[in-house]
Amino acid sequence: MALLNILEFPDPRLRTKAKPIDNVDGRIARFADDLLETMYDAPGIGLAASQVNVHSRIIAVDVSDNKDQPLILINPEIVAREGEIETNEGCLSIPGFYEPVFRSQQIEVNAINRDGEPFTLQAEDLLAVCIQHEMDHLEGKLFVDYLSSTKRQMIRKKLLKQQKQQA
Ligand code: NI
Repeated sequence: MALLNILEFPDPRLRTKAKPIDNVDGRIARFADDLLETMYDAPGIGLAASQVNVHSRIIAVDVSDNKDQPLILINPEIVAREGEIETNEGCLSIPGFYEPVFRSQQIEVNAINRDGEPFTLQAEDLLAVCIQHEMDHLEGKLFVDYLSSTKRQMIRKKLLKQQKQQA
């Protein structure tokens, strides 16, 4: 297993649209394990491949309190959605910022697991929000895109300044 480097906004690579995975082989399963390990280490409740500069459609999620319910979704597709929920979202690629975003409150998702088996998941509240947030990453979309451009520019400026200081 290995820890992967997480890209930070406004890195343009975060804007790449991820490609579907044709074949879930051992290489993908190992990458899924690395993605989970990186997410737990960060620590975070979700991480998309796009955030570690791998532009394939795979996300890792675990919203459980004990961090013992890892979920890997490969080629996830939302097939039904209902209701609306507003939560303060954060992102490992946008460290230190939390802003309110509206999402569907309930979703049904079709995906493939790390063993290559298709499954359907009904999710609500935090799990539903987290899956929608991670799936946005696969489209090159970030939660700051839902904010006003003034707010987005402010966050961009502060993060660029921080990244310069760390470099
Ligand atoms: Ni994120």
